[in-house]
Amino acid sequence: MSDDFPILAQKINGHQFVYLDSAATSMRPAYVLDRIDAFYKSSAANPHRGVYALAERATAAYEGARASVARFVGVDADEIVFTRNASESLNLVMYCYAALRLGPGDSIVIPISEHHSNLVTWQIAAAKTGAELRYLYVDAQTGYIPDGEIEKKIDKTTKIVAFAHVSNVLGALFPVEKLVSRARDAGAITVLDAAQSVPHLPVDLKGLGVDFAAFSAHKMYGPMGIGVLYGRRALLEEMPPFLYGGDMIEYVREQDTDFAAPPHKFEAGTQNAGGAVGLAAAIEYIDSVGWERIEANEAALMRRLIKGLGDLRHMSIIGDADPDARRYGVASFNIDDVHSHDAATILDSYGIAIRAGAHCAHPLLDYLGVKASCRASLGLYTTERDVDALLECIPLVRRKLGYGD
Ligand SMILES: Cc1ncc(COP(=O)(O)O)c(C=O)c1O
Repeated sequence: MSDDFPILAQKINGHQFVYLDSAATSMRPAYVLDRIDAFYKSSAANPHRGVYALAERATAAYEGARASVARFVGVDADEIVFTRNASESLNLVMYCYAALRLGPGDSIVIPISEHHSNLVTWQIAAAKTGAELRYLYVDAQTGYIPDGEIEKKIDKTTKIVAFAHVSNVLGALFPVEKLVSRARDAGAITVLDAAQSVPHLPVDLKGLGVDFAAFSAHKMYGPMGIGVLYGRRALLEEMPPFLYGGDMIEYVREQDTDFAAPPHKFEAGTQNAGGAVGLAAAIEYIDSVGWERIEANEAALMRRLIKGLGDLRHMSIIGDADPDARRYGVASFNIDDVHSHDAATILDSYGIAIRAGAHCAHPLLDYLGVKASCRASLGLYTTERDVDALLECIPLVRRKLGYGD
């Protein structure tokens, strides 16, 4: 599969490129790049605005992409709103739903491990409305939410429960069914951050029963600049628009406006139609590889990686260090006495790209008492050779910095 990705064929610093930062952004196969190129070369008029052939083609491509996304996550097309990224999708829910409904005495519940996109957003909601922001604290050793924590924190005051499907630091899969069931009993709505799950496992949003979900095309082999918000139809209908402008209206009079129905009500101005085409192509590409192959490949590589890291000296793994535990795409670790930025810089000199730092999760790292970490993350193109290259080069990091062993 790695042959499908032209960017991976290059050498970096004289070494064959090893890309292990797919959780930050995945690479794109030629199939996706060609489809975007073809759209701009043959069909890129402004969707929804013209009646001539090219405009009709652009509209069909854009709305066809919406239908593909809807099928991909098991919902209806009019429940899919195109945004710029997962962060914007979460902001839309905050501004157009939470900020208008919450007040003092209400609570918002999120895990401590959330990405800043699904954390700062709720801090702002709390600050705007006087609601309390409460955290589910994960087990510091395993990264899972301990028994009892969900029951303790989600209660009748809770109006929003927002959580990642898969943590971008821990790689843990959170118990969506349990969180949704507890939230429902409390009368709260659920917001799923699916940014790190949609590239790694089949996601059926209707089956999971969440009210909103957010993800980005660029983490699932699609282009940057386009994201998705899923919203249950009844909720989208109740919500006011996010931004105002062209193409989100039904009729405009001098003093007031009738807005379009969802999802168009939330898509003001010319949209990223080329991005939508690229996202639909990424879904076709994922479908062509097949979940069975993707999941089997990633599970085997993750086992190899966690086992290999665990066998190294001077190593601490963040989250579940059991190679047989299922981690989804992400392994975070630290090398004793080495700052993650130094480790990542030295690994880059061998052509290996990993992430270093706080991974947009300062509260989690503070809670775990870790300042920063290295993170290696996998995509469907990752090979055993990539994993082994990392495992072979990690010991060189300490040696390069002058440690004896
Ligand atoms: C779990 C999670 N949520 C949200 C985001 C934000 O995604 P984007 O930057 O595409 O908005 C990320 C990005 O790393 C993420 O890992």
